[in-house]
Amino acid sequence: MLWLVFFLAAHPVEAQAAAYSNQTSPNPVVNLTDAYSPPFYPSPWMDGTGPGWSEAYAKAQAFVSQLTLLEKVNLTTGVGWEGEACVGNVGSIPRLGFPSLCMQDSPLGVRFADYVSAFPAGGTIAASWDRGEFYRRGYQMGAEHAGKGVDVQLGPVVGPIGRNPKGGRNWEGFSPDPVLSGIAIAETVRGIQDAGVIACTKHFILNEQEHFRSPGPFEDFGEVDAISSNVDDKTLHELYLWPFADAVRAGTGSIMCSYNKINNSQACQNSYMQNYILKGELGFQGFIMSDWDAQHGGVASTFAGLDMTMPGDTDFDSGDSFWGPNMTISVLNGTLPEWRLDDAATRIMAAYYYVGRDKKSVPTNFNSWSKDTYGYQHAFAQTEYTIINQHVDVRAEHYASIRVAAAKSTVLLKNNGVLPLTGKEKLTAVFGDDAGENQYGPNGCTDRGCDNGTLAMGWGSGTADFPYLITPLEAIKSEIVKTGGNIQSVTDNWAYTQITALAKQASVSIVFVNADSGEGYITVDGNAGDRNNLTLWQDGEALIKNVTASSNNTIVVIHSVGPVLVNSFYDSPNISAIIWAGIPGQESGNAIADVLYGRVNPGGKLPFTIGSDASEYGPDLIYTPTNGHASPQDDFVEGVFIDYRIFDKKNITPIYEFGFGLSYTTFSYSNLNVVKVPAGPYTPASGTTKAAPRLGNFSTNPADYQWPANLTYVNKYIYPYLNSTDLKEASNDPEYGNEVTWPKGVTDGSPQPRIAAGGGLGGNPQLYDILFSVTATITNDGKVPGDEVAQLYISLGGPDEPVVALRNFERLSIQPGQGATFTADITRRDLSNWDTVTQNWVITNHTKTIHVGSSSRVLPLSATLDL
Ligand SMILES: *[C@@H]1O[C@H](CO)[C@@H](O)[C@H](O)[C@H]1NC(C)=O
Ligand SMILES: *[C@@H]1O[C@H](CO)[C@@H](O)[C@H](O)[C@H]1NC(C)=O
Ligand SMILES: *[C@@H]1O[C@H](CO)[C@@H](O)[C@H](O)[C@H]1NC(C)=O
Ligand SMILES: *[C@@H]1O[C@H](CO)[C@@H](O)[C@H](O)[C@H]1NC(C)=O
Ligand SMILES: *[C@@H]1O[C@H](CO)[C@@H](O)[C@H](O)[C@H]1NC(C)=O
Ligand SMILES: *[C@@H]1O[C@H](CO)[C@@H](O)[C@H](O)[C@H]1NC(C)=O
Ligand SMILES: *[C@@H]1O[C@H](CO)[C@@H](O)[C@H](O)[C@H]1NC(C)=O
Ligand SMILES: *[C@@H]1O[C@H](CO)[C@@H](O)[C@H](O)[C@H]1NC(C)=O
Ligand SMILES: *[C@@H]1O[C@H](CO)[C@@H](O)[C@H](O)[C@H]1NC(C)=O
Ligand SMILES: *[C@@H]1O[C@H](CO)[C@@H](O)[C@H](O)[C@H]1NC(C)=O
Ligand SMILES: *[C@@H]1O[C@H](CO)[C@@H](O)[C@H](O)[C@H]1NC(C)=O
Repeated sequence: MLWLVFFLAAHPVEAQAAAYSNQTSPNPVVNLTDAYSPPFYPSPWMDGTGPGWSEAYAKAQAFVSQLTLLEKVNLTTGVGWEGEACVGNVGSIPRLGFPSLCMQDSPLGVRFADYVSAFPAGGTIAASWDRGEFYRRGYQMGAEHAGKGVDVQLGPVVGPIGRNPKGGRNWEGFSPDPVLSGIAIAETVRGIQDAGVIACTKHFILNEQEHFRSPGPFEDFGEVDAISSNVDDKTLHELYLWPFADAVRAGTGSIMCSYNKINNSQACQNSYMQNYILKGELGFQGFIMSDWDAQHGGVASTFAGLDMTMPGDTDFDSGDSFWGPNMTISVLNGTLPEWRLDDAATRIMAAYYYVGRDKKSVPTNFNSWSKDTYGYQHAFAQTEYTIINQHVDVRAEHYASIRVAAAKSTVLLKNNGVLPLTGKEKLTAVFGDDAGENQYGPNGCTDRGCDNGTLAMGWGSGTADFPYLITPLEAIKSEIVKTGGNIQSVTDNWAYTQITALAKQASVSIVFVNADSGEGYITVDGNAGDRNNLTLWQDGEALIKNVTASSNNTIVVIHSVGPVLVNSFYDSPNISAIIWAGIPGQESGNAIADVLYGRVNPGGKLPFTIGSDASEYGPDLIYTPTNGHASPQDDFVEGVFIDYRIFDKKNITPIYEFGFGLSYTTFSYSNLNVVKVPAGPYTPASGTTKAAPRLGNFSTNPADYQWPANLTYVNKYIYPYLNSTDLKEASNDPEYGNEVTWPKGVTDGSPQPRIAAGGGLGGNPQLYDILFSVTATITNDGKVPGDEVAQLYISLGGPDEPVVALRNFERLSIQPGQGATFTADITRRDLSNWDTVTQNWVITNHTKTIHVGSSSRVLPLSATLDL
């Protein structure tokens, strides 16, 4: 708990420093040394801009207008860790019969619940490059959350985006490419929300590693403050913010602010990121929720745009809150204008109406903290013994599409013709711990925090319990048994005698290997969330070597959270095929069998680059304190050059490039056609907003906010009430009233100038104007039907631009001998660079070239755009 003291003391200083800066024209960081996040106030209030939002806004305003101050506070403040059924719950409004809103992990299924599905992880579904699969997975996950009575699904993820492949939580997100990530998150958000649940796009922003993500003790070193991700304005816009803009444009109802600092200002009270960028420039209409205990200040975070605090307490089960009573007090003592609280409550309710939770929702029917039918409603307090789990099976027929999605996300990296297998091979040999069952069961390690048995998801809060997990060995065995063949296996990676004996006999050897990672609160095999290296786990390379020494027909299947180094084995003549199968979820074995035995022709493409050394990917993660006890300074000096962009820039030949993936057939590209689409000029947004609405009146008499005499107090629960009419005493905060001065403009509810690059959901609406329409013909030259992901890249010209950058793609199913038309639009945003001087997007005078092909390095068709 020492760190808490350290950090509360640190906070007011930050708020004061901001007071001396220029609030109307943010000065974007260009020099990362001593990176500084400029203040921006007031926090933009919701205005109902964007399709569907104006109706939701009107309903939310009507609802919030009838609330008391205490009820508004209840909507914004979590009740505390393990206080209610979900991983997070806010207070309820009993007077109106309005239940507590339930927030639940995770981005790949309902966490801490039974009778739910375990979907492929984000970083795996990304490899399908299939908009339909992105949407369907989102919809089905949303439907399962809805069925369990969840209001907010805590996903999807585009932060981390995957700056460095060792980042522990990269697999929860989609891809280090912002366009692939952006399209994937937009479809996922639409899917989740069409199913009637609010999506929470996370983590905003630059949450790119697990080490030092929050302030806390580090090994023997003592306290270390949260890492600061230091980024320049151009990189922020062109890379990290890009997919968040797509999520906002898709209507995401909430966004979670992250643990880390951004340019030395804590994310959940970073006024530049939350007020200027997210609510200002991107026109975000929903609410910002803190990551669990990522809030580090009271009024400072409210002014800086935070709308909901999770799980509500300052530290898990401290019983204290930066909000709750403190929020009530800050309105009563005149520090916080009522309009800011009204705006927070309105945003929360607008998201609720936007996805239709008023029309269709069921009460929460599970409890995160126990699988027992009967138990305590309030797990931490151990009170209110009742039915806590109704064990509602919400899986429907989702298993079928999970299998399809996993197979469609499987990437074939090498094939000398051995695949597809017939099932009639004389002796099939399966090797590897990764082929079989975890001896503790698929859910045997808490939050999947071990690497035993086949790997089908990473570890941490981004998990769900498996309803079952089909292992590769089971699926292959049932395949072979059907055809009357022979199958043997060795799943001990170190049983070299048995491995060698079996490999010698095998007609085909299939070796399963893996590499895992997860969230930093669990350490597995010395990996504290982030991976320590990019090599295989469980001596996978030695296993492959042992098998290939005796078997000249070896197929390697990799289950991994991201890139792994394959250079020690990929070109061995005894390796006939290599498959990357990601972390595919519950249908893992069935999906890989579908691909191995040719029922599914693989069409997935790598959503990242596989290089031959970790150093090729740019700056390493920070694993040890670099700044004493202060925030490690993580300068994103590589700019927009991550993954394939850095390989291209440094002219490093990857082993398997971004976008690469083989098929059991072959495709050719022809007939590139580019049509210019008339669009008006780009006009910056101008004018001013309306004044902040104030919804209702309230008494300023502290006596009206005291604890109700008849309330059944739940221990350590966070309520909105005061326990004294003396506000300072009620706040119980030694720093109470100590702020010397707040930054300029924090309370200003008057009309504000609009931000030039803003004006709509996801930024200026004209950024999304289509300027060119591109078509090309893709022909299946082989003998079997197959899927090809046609990819469109752009070269923006200019001295410091990526050689190529992905801008669009389409997955096409093509019959043998047939051609299909690839169609892709190019928007103004696709052609623009962020200009730090005008604070807007501009199309530079450099020649713009487009390229169409099958990967980031195989681009047979090109054309120059006539602008
Ligand atoms: C903000 O900075 C600009 C440029 O330095 C300056 O012209 C302007 O007067 C400043 N505004 C305020 C309110 O300080
Ligand atoms: C960046 O800022 C640091 C500290 O303020 C300064 O020493 C350095 O010269 C600056 N670098 C550039 C390139 O401006
Ligand atoms: C606030 O929420 C708590 C927990 O749901 C509830 O007990 C309390 O009555 C609510 N207070 C008000 C004023 O609605
Ligand atoms: C109010 O917030 C401060 C931290 O800013 C905290 O120390 C105090 O316990 C809070 N008060 C209550 C009643 O939760
Ligand atoms: C199972 O997991 C535990 C915990 O991670 C580990 O210590 C053990 O070596 C694993 N066993 C196998 C066979 O992988
Ligand atoms: C990389 O990490 C894995 C997992 O901890 C470990 O099994 C492996 O030995 C490490 N590789 C190297 C080369 O140290
Ligand atoms: C199998 O691997 C072990 C450990 O790397 C090694 O000692 C042994 O020689 C290998 N056997 C073969 C046949 O490659
Ligand atoms: C493996 O070796 C056997 C025996 O030499 C040979 O018949 C077979 O074609 C080889 N298979 C491959 C895939 O090279
Ligand atoms: C508690 O007291 C308040 C104020 O007297 C009253 O409005 C409310 O209905 C009471 N609640 C219960 C549960 O008795
Ligand atoms: C009530 O206020 C006192 C004095 O400020 C404080 O010590 C105590 O913790 C508070 N109790 C609750 C339940 O907030
Ligand atoms: C107002 O209340 C808030 C919340 O307790 C506190 O942080 C702040 O210091 C108070 N301000 C004044 C001027 O008393």
